[in-house]
Amino acid sequence: MKRILSLFIFMIAVITMSISACAAAPEINEGTSSVSVSNISEDDFLIAAIYNNNKALEGVKVYKNTGEAVIDYNKDIFPSYEDADFMKLFVWTDKQQPKMTAYGIDIKKYKGQDGETPASKTLVAYFSATGTTKTLAEKFAAAADADIFEIVPTEPYTSADLNYNSDCRANREQNDDTARPTIANTIENFDSYDTIIIGHPIWWGTIPRIIYTFMDTYDLSGKNVYTFCTSGSSGISAAVSDVKKYAPNANLAGGMRGTSSTTEDEIKAWLEGNGYNK
Ligand SMILES: Cc1cc2nc3c(=O)[nH]c(=O)nc-3n(C[C@H](O)[C@H](O)[C@H](O)COP(=O)(O)O)c2cc1C
Repeated sequence: MKRILSLFIFMIAVITMSISACAAAPEINEGTSSVSVSNISEDDFLIAAIYNNNKALEGVKVYKNTGEAVIDYNKDIFPSYEDADFMKLFVWTDKQQPKMTAYGIDIKKYKGQDGETPASKTLVAYFSATGTTKTLAEKFAAAADADIFEIVPTEPYTSADLNYNSDCRANREQNDDTARPTIANTIENFDSYDTIIIGHPIWWGTIPRIIYTFMDTYDLSGKNVYTFCTSGSSGISAAVSDVKKYAPNANLAGGMRGTSSTTEDEIKAWLEGNGYNK
């Protein structure tokens, strides 16, 4: 009886081993602008760990349920991790058992390969309480061939909040240096933009306080920055000075006051006159 039992256990062990040997191992195919990993079964995770040249971890990307994952260095890595130098790929089961350990790729040599140098990217980020700046922002985005992001206040401004002939919310905020109205939404991949164009209405001669919240949230240091505004009649120079003071390490090229009749061509000409090229 004992012998039959041990024979049975032995057979089960052989069957289990041959089943796991049949399960295809993840397969890596390294190209000059991308790497593909196939045979990722549906319970597995592909993990890409991205390092800089100081061997410090810059970020981690996780791919799940893909079967085959293709990681394009110039589309998927360098725009988010500019200093990426080296990448390690792992495949783990959902029980966190390694199925493929640390496959290293020296990705920096592939930067910009196949003519796919990451294009310089521009974002128009604007706040508009009553829609005038929004219209101008859309023209700026078209003129600059840029992505667009509306800075949405967590608490929207009602018309009572904007009634500047009263003790309204907007006036109270402008009179309070520390007021930082919160922003409801978030910019994806802010790091991938090298130029930021900020649009706002003029409130009491300058930028609304929510633009300070924006500058607290997103570091403009080293970015090329342009601003634009709409207003009843005030110019933009005080607003530009305030942005310069608050973000001294931004490369602030200047600001343009526009109106609802400003055209895309006028914006293009202004941008180019201020060193913008894409
Ligand atoms: C609280 C507040 C203060 C304002 N202060 C000024 C100002 O100092 N100078 C000016 O020309 N317009 C001022 N305006 C008018 C706005 O700048 C103008 O209506 C702008 O185009 C509104 O843009 P939006 O529709 O994108 O919010 C003020 C408006 C508000 C609500």
